[in-house]
Amino acid sequence: MFRDSFKYYKSRNPAPNLDDVIDLENPDHVKVRKIKANISDEQDENNFGLKPAEKWIIYELLDIPGLIFIQNPFTPNGQRYWIIKCLKDYSKEPYKLNIDAHNILANETWWEICFQMSERAKILLPKLRWSTLGYHHNWDTKLYSENSKSAMPMELSGLTSILAKTLGFSDFKAEAAIVNYYRMNSTLAGHTDHSEMNVAAPLFSISFGQTAIFLIGGPKQEDSANAIFLRSGDVVIMSGSSRLRYHGVPKILSTSRIPWDDNGEDNREIITYNYDDWRKARTYIVEARINMNIRQVLEPGQIVLY
Ligand code: SIN
Repeated sequence: MFRDSFKYYKSRNPAPNLDDVIDLENPDHVKVRKIKANISDEQDENNFGLKPAEKWIIYELLDIPGLIFIQNPFTPNGQRYWIIKCLKDYSKEPYKLNIDAHNILANETWWEICFQMSERAKILLPKLRWSTLGYHHNWDTKLYSENSKSAMPMELSGLTSILAKTLGFSDFKAEAAIVNYYRMNSTLAGHTDHSEMNVAAPLFSISFGQTAIFLIGGPKQEDSANAIFLRSGDVVIMSGSSRLRYHGVPKILSTSRIPWDDNGEDNREIITYNYDDWRKARTYIVEARINMNIRQVLEPGQIVLY
């Protein structure tokens, strides 16, 4: 049962045995189908911090049809660029944050406050838990509304469009996203993502920072669950019959490998970021995880919600 596995992996004392956690860096004992990337010219124009698609390692898990995994397709610079985006740009207006409800930001942004040496910074930094972009997810009603939306960030739509096209989902449109910010003791309870009108469209989940144990069950809470390691840069796509499965994050583990620190000199790379921003963001990500979860809300051809 999903709940039992969640409790098992969440436990600190006793700590769980991780031998059964699926590790797609060593897929020898996992039933997988290797997927070939659809190569398009689009990636040459703007790579959004991605390695060339020819180098991506992509699997579908045969026991979870439709669940696709891309092993970190990002360059080290790409990881830095997206970590900064999430911390500096996606944590302020026009996006909605969990901390908005606390009324603690007075004409300042979370980023401006949190990377100074102050008592306030120490208190506020771990309080950021999520932000919503595009159609804002309503956590109470679980309904999207035309009255509650921002524009989707262009670079995030662009990144998702490349990922989608490379996997053959050429009609995908990024219309809503949730950015989840995890501290080392954070968890995300089991849930299904069913608020979107269009649940036939895939959902893209991109992780940075420390490693998660990602738990994925079946369509019902009673179904058994599989645990999978998600490391920095890994992308999971919930498509087909996996789109409405229960999933959650019972544990964050410290990573032994730090891909954002790798030396990724590549003269063809177009992506840039500010070094001072990275110096700040790096102090955050050494003890945190970020997940960007991108969805299509509307049916093909639908212009507004009704
Ligand atoms: C989510 O399901 O919203 C996030 C999953 C994750 O953090 O990997």
